[in-house]
Amino acid sequence: MKIAVVGTGYVGLVTGTCFAETGNKVTCIDIDKSKVDKLINGEITIYEPGLEKIFLRNLKEGRLNFTTQLAEGIKDAVIVFLALPTPPGEDGSADLRYVLGVAEELGKIITDYKVIVDKSTVPVGTAEKVRAAVALHFKGEFDIVSNPEFLREGVAVEDFMKPDRVVIGTNSERARKVMSDLYGPFVRQGNPVIFMDERSAELTKYAANSFLATKISFMNEIAQLCERLGADVDMVRRGIGSDERIGKRFLFPGIGYGGSCFPKDVQALIKSSQDVQYTFKILKAVEEVNETQKLHLIPKIKAFFQNDLTGKHFALWGLAFKPNTDDIREAPALYLIDALLNAGATVTAFDPEAVPNVKKTIGDKIGYAENQYSALDNADALIIATEWSEFRTPDFDMINSRLKKKVIFDGRNLFDVKYISDLGYHYESIGRL
Ligand SMILES: NC(=O)c1ccc[n+]([C@@H]2O[C@H](COP(=O)([O-])OP(=O)(O)OC[C@H]3O[C@@H](n4cnc5c(N)ncnc54)[C@H](O)[C@@H]3O)[C@@H](O)[C@H]2O)c1
Repeated sequence: MKIAVVGTGYVGLVTGTCFAETGNKVTCIDIDKSKVDKLINGEITIYEPGLEKIFLRNLKEGRLNFTTQLAEGIKDAVIVFLALPTPPGEDGSADLRYVLGVAEELGKIITDYKVIVDKSTVPVGTAEKVRAAVALHFKGEFDIVSNPEFLREGVAVEDFMKPDRVVIGTNSERARKVMSDLYGPFVRQGNPVIFMDERSAELTKYAANSFLATKISFMNEIAQLCERLGADVDMVRRGIGSDERIGKRFLFPGIGYGGSCFPKDVQALIKSSQDVQYTFKILKAVEEVNETQKLHLIPKIKAFFQNDLTGKHFALWGLAFKPNTDDIREAPALYLIDALLNAGATVTAFDPEAVPNVKKTIGDKIGYAENQYSALDNADALIIATEWSEFRTPDFDMINSRLKKKVIFDGRNLFDVKYISDLGYHYESIGRL
């Protein structure tokens, strides 16, 4: 099939590459010329495990193409995916200007039947708005489909190639057939393709992310209680996670959720609820808990240093909002850095992939280390903000020899409390004895 993907970011590039991998001919379109130039030249623009290899193969075999020109990119395509940003607007609602802008442009240039598929996360009712925007200029037949994306950054290729489920919102039989054919190779193991109406598909995506964010904030509140009541959140987590109704995943406490999805999607669902005179009480609490949790280490750090961080220097391990990505959108590490700098401290950070993106955002406000150990030089303490695998079993002799004192504040509960205390560390983590 011939496919166009408009927007070549974390979702668009994975979507385009994975569709090419199953034999489709894909053209990805982006307005960012430097990004498109890099991709044409075989330079991958995001870090995502496993992506580069299939990107290069499909580029070489001519199934994957890139352009900045919308008209050229969609010319032969039967399906046009919209993988455009939907950032929070000033009032918290999803900003639809990119999606609707491209929809209107499409209306001006399409000349034959197309299935226009919304892969961006968009509020209920957006498919109707996209349909209206296209129809402003194009009077022929076309279909709009809502096909929310559930991939997780860090395992995006695996998630896309073997999705737990594919949700497709459409009432059109013609579009349903096209989408079934396209997704067939991805669900051969029998995972469901769930067809529904557009509005339900749009809400499904927000419900999924909001539920997962709720699980995280719930566990973070349990962790807060553990610290006050002298219980161990690891034990509580294991105790409840073995109940199938609860499940083991998403029960790890930490310094809050970040990323480009949970914060904005929770915010957008709260706003969508308000718009229909409903107060989504749980989600407001989820958001409030997360705001507090992002800075949960700061009072602990301040207390340890007698409330004076002036002139103190910290090593920070982890900048990305989670491991295996270079994405730093809403990363808790950035909030920690802000709080530390405001308190008069300095920071040297290490992250395996996210340093270039952080440099673009905050430049030389902090120092950057070549590796996790050189970040420790002259530091009064180590702070851990992201659970990259390589931080899990570090060389503690090396840490000792470089840190000024044996002090670690761990926002991701990487180490066994007894083990590290026996090594002589002052160690503080989240919700543990
Ligand atoms: N990142 C994720 O893990 C994830 C997962 C599921 C869903 N989503 C949703 O998918 C959507 C895209 O997210 P993302 O993380 O890929 O965003 P992104 O910011 O990484 O990528 C968006 C791309 O669109 C391009 N763009 C902007 N305006 C354009 C235009 N007029 N024409 C062509 N290209 C244009 C940008 O240059 C950018 O490359 C959002 O709605 C997001 O909520 C994201």
